[in-house]
Amino acid sequence: MIDKVRQIVVTSALPYANGPIHIGHMLEYVQTDIWVRFQKMRGHECVYVCADDAHGTPIMLRAKAEGITPEVLIDKMNREHLSDFTDFGVDFDNFHSTHSPENKTFAEEIYLKLKAAGHVRTQVISQAYDPKAEMFLPDRFIKGECPSCGTADQYGDNCESCGATYSPTDLKNAVSVVTGETPIEKDSEQYFFKLSDFEDMLKTWTRAGHIQKEIANKMDEWLEDGLRDWDISRNAPYWGFEIPDAPGKYFYVWLDAPIGYMASFKNWCDKNNASFDDYWKLDSHTELHHFIGKDIARFHTLFWPAMLEGAGYRKPTAVYCHGFLTVDGQKMSKSRGTFIKARTYLEHLNPEYLRYYFAAKLSSGVDDIDLNLEDFSARVNSDLVGKVVNIASRCAGFINKNFGARLSASIGDNKLSQQALAAADSIASAYENREYSRAMREIMALADKANQFIDEKQPWVIVKDIERQAEVHETCTIGINCFRQLIILLKPVLPKVAEQAEAFLNVDPLDWNDLDNDLLDHPINKFKPLMTRIDKVLIERMVESSKEAAVEEKKLTTQPSSDTQSSSTEVTSIEPIADEINYDDFAKLDLRVAHIIDAKAVEKSNKLLQLTLDIGFETRTVFAGISSAYEPDQLIGKQVIMVANLAPRKMRFGVSEGMVLCAGSDDDGLFVLHPDNGAKPGMRVS
Ligand code: 2FM
Ligand code: ZN
Repeated sequence: MIDKVRQIVVTSALPYANGPIHIGHMLEYVQTDIWVRFQKMRGHECVYVCADDAHGTPIMLRAKAEGITPEVLIDKMNREHLSDFTDFGVDFDNFHSTHSPENKTFAEEIYLKLKAAGHVRTQVISQAYDPKAEMFLPDRFIKGECPSCGTADQYGDNCESCGATYSPTDLKNAVSVVTGETPIEKDSEQYFFKLSDFEDMLKTWTRAGHIQKEIANKMDEWLEDGLRDWDISRNAPYWGFEIPDAPGKYFYVWLDAPIGYMASFKNWCDKNNASFDDYWKLDSHTELHHFIGKDIARFHTLFWPAMLEGAGYRKPTAVYCHGFLTVDGQKMSKSRGTFIKARTYLEHLNPEYLRYYFAAKLSSGVDDIDLNLEDFSARVNSDLVGKVVNIASRCAGFINKNFGARLSASIGDNKLSQQALAAADSIASAYENREYSRAMREIMALADKANQFIDEKQPWVIVKDIERQAEVHETCTIGINCFRQLIILLKPVLPKVAEQAEAFLNVDPLDWNDLDNDLLDHPINKFKPLMTRIDKVLIERMVESSKEAAVEEKKLTTQPSSDTQSSSTEVTSIEPIADEINYDDFAKLDLRVAHIIDAKAVEKSNKLLQLTLDIGFETRTVFAGISSAYEPDQLIGKQVIMVANLAPRKMRFGVSEGMVLCAGSDDDGLFVLHPDNGAKPGMRVS
């Protein structure tokens, strides 16, 4: 029994309404959903709200490209997103939209309160403007050459090659992603939220147990660097809410996005006759927990608490950051078929496989989580099918066939049950603290014990002995009861399996309190396999489908999909053929065969590998932006083609003396070019 019923509001980050949900997103929703289901099973009042993040330039431009209004686009996305979540077992109490009347009301109210309290100021600033599209350009809608290392095709905020951060005006040969025009600088008045007014509060809040250690350390750095005022306005044309008393100015999407948590909750309150104020007033005794990706920590740990404080609302109880999802050790890639949409996954595989795998890998830290497809099927087949489901399938047949489908009336001193009960508190605390991998390990240890018990008792042998029927009945009843406990412990992770198990066990929905009462003298139903082994062919088909979907999408998409660079950001474009050159231009390139004699990762760069290349007559050091595609060891000993007469470039990590030729791009996958067998280092390539 729990001591006290907690009242908890839980949120996951609001997905942008301009693209599909993929399994990288799903990591977070599954993590949150497990936590919510656990709280509900324990008897707490827990309300899980979310919404689509429906504003911003990318949505406006995508709607335009599709020839529809933003309203039609976001409605369509809202339906698709909700159906993906529902089919993955993510059970929101409310899924709303930031383009809602509630959100407009709260955004205006919070803004006006901040302004009245003197936390908003205006300033004329100069920003990049596309004269052809007649719009100001967000940083990610400008591309050009990095001012620091010269790499082409870099976004307006940072260089993916050397890691430099800069403002879009620093880019060389910048162009607008919208029209290809050269942006001009244009002045306009903008509204700034004075974050520095909240410095003292944030310093205290950082160290008051609301955020993980790693994030608190990061916050310390931000606080030490000094808090800059935050531009919360955007000029028309912009898809969002117009700022009160500021015609032609709109709230920046990140201003009204977190307010969307409140709006969705208010919408839930109105439908459920609950008091919004009880949860959001300053001194509320309720809890507010946000689950987010580490890339958007700054918005949730600086701006959001400051906005709430400034507007007189309660602040979050906790902000939990998780890492990104990699697949087979690498960033999800469309060309490798590992950029897997939730819908594509669902077309091939049972969502509970992935829910379990995520749970088996998730901890409370911010490290990235790898979905290793080989390990995925091995782990699910061995743990869920081979251990948990197996217990029921080993026992159910005897109960049904030999004992009239009725469990025995007594089971004596049932050690297995006691062991599960003894472990339950530790498993509960693992769930509570988001240490799901530990919870899964402890549950599987219990499943191992149950299987050992059945192995030792050998009901399939003793059933042949007419004298030992009672023993078989008890053994199988113990097995079924242990299975029932495992199902309770796994129910936050495997809600569908639990539902089927409840039907088999002929019981009402199980919750945590049911752990300590055995089912005795109780009729059960026919056993149907609750989960089957993952067939690797299905994984292969899913990967193939993802590749095909990427090719289809490539024909349609040409724009960045979000306002920030996050795990969910994906840019796909068909590269036009470059301007024509003549033979002399080509002949200026000195391309050589090079032998990679060493390759190593570059500290503090998540993009570069340092290669040592032998080109026959000398050795070169080249920094190549290929770490997303290759481990250093995979490259050593290989031959590649390099541009040998490229002027040396000074980079943050050293001087790069050339360039290695690669096909593809970061988004589509990178493929280093190799000469055919027989080529020798130093040979000229023509
Ligand atoms: O990064 C993103 O995908 C954002 N749409 C998350 C918003 S979370 C909240 F603040 F609304
Ligand atoms: Zn650079």
